[in-house]
Amino acid sequence: MSDTPTCPTSPAAERNKHAILAALQDLLPTSGRLLEIAAGTGQHAVFCAAGLPGWQWQPSDPDPAALLAIAAWAAAHPSPGLLHALQINVLVEPWPARLGHAGANWDALYCANMLHIAPWACCAALMCGAAGLLTEQGQLILYGPYRVQGEPTSPGNQAFDVDLQARNPAWGLRWLHDIVEQAAGVGLHLSERRAMPANNQILVFRRRAGAA
Ligand SMILES: C[S@@+](CC[C@H](N)C(=O)[O-])C[C@H]1O[C@@H](n2cnc3c(N)ncnc32)[C@H](O)[C@@H]1O
Repeated sequence: MSDTPTCPTSPAAERNKHAILAALQDLLPTSGRLLEIAAGTGQHAVFCAAGLPGWQWQPSDPDPAALLAIAAWAAAHPSPGLLHALQINVLVEPWPARLGHAGANWDALYCANMLHIAPWACCAALMCGAAGLLTEQGQLILYGPYRVQGEPTSPGNQAFDVDLQARNPAWGLRWLHDIVEQAAGVGLHLSERRAMPANNQILVFRRRAGAA
């Protein structure tokens, strides 16, 4: 973005932030508290916090460089609901204690573009964290490219998968049914799946009735 020359910028995040915000505005109630996992540069955090004025938006990432980037974006685009980023690696337990000091009290967890670029164990860890932190009506919202049984994978996503695995054999596009299985193990179920631009999807997980 030309008005934030010192902020590390992901071109993909600039492209997809409008569609993501529109989906979040549709999915979420007017107010609440959201924890973002794997916030990266912080572009989604600043844009969505501004577009969801009733929400407190808590970004996080494990990478110190990402935490600096999020701080730079937040300084350039302050929003009253945008909180100082936390360092969270989903594989490192416990997650920061203050997240859970009042019990399961987060209305939403949001995680974009992490599962394919992190070891598969991160999926179970994310699901476990979400199950521990979400309110009864809370939502875990995932965004990214996913493979779906019975649906063709786009040539672009197939090439992306090959590239990811060449960069790190532990990375790669994830199958929807595998993610759903991990969620089921902690009492979450897939309540909605939305097609998004550029062959991405939004997946919404909620608690199964009686599974809190
Ligand atoms: C491709 S970036 C996505 C950033 C942003 N969500 C977006 O969509 O533009 C992947 C992010 O996942 C984060 N990540 C990787 N492993 C992680 C882990 N174990 N726990 C939490 N975040 C992780 C990285 O630090 C990085 O910021």
